[in-house]
Amino acid sequence: MTAPVAHSVKPARRSILNWFLGVGVVGWAASVLYPVLRYLRPLGEAGAGGPLKLSAEELTTLGKSHFVIARSGTRKVIVFEAGGELRALDAKCTHEGCTVQFVPGDSLVWCACHNGKFDLDGRVLAGPPPRPLAKWVAIREGNDVILTMEKA
Ligand code: FES
Repeated sequence: MTAPVAHSVKPARRSILNWFLGVGVVGWAASVLYPVLRYLRPLGEAGAGGPLKLSAEELTTLGKSHFVIARSGTRKVIVFEAGGELRALDAKCTHEGCTVQFVPGDSLVWCACHNGKFDLDGRVLAGPPPRPLAKWVAIREGNDVILTMEKA
């Protein structure tokens, strides 16, 4: 009487263990492959230097906040409108890499981390940043804004 019960329970336990083992193997493989594939994936079509087109959401933010931080590959670009002119600079501070922001009232680009200040062309005005912010070219094309990195 007990033998048939034991016989019917063993396959169920074994199949549950096999299921957990399978899930574990798949999970392990995914945790190894995902970072590798993500590393190997090429940057966006445009590459890190653009051209980059602002999305509708970024354009809305630009209109409301006077500036927006856009991404081009691994780079961040700050786009702002000052004196009726659209401008764009690298958004990564040259001191320790914090993200800068545009201060429309003072007409400057400011890094909150160590009070670094840049003019609207990215030149250092005050604070510890050792180099200017790289310039980008921002062009309006109809309702779109296209960014490309300025050649040095
Ligand atoms: S990181 Fe910007 S001033 Fe230090």
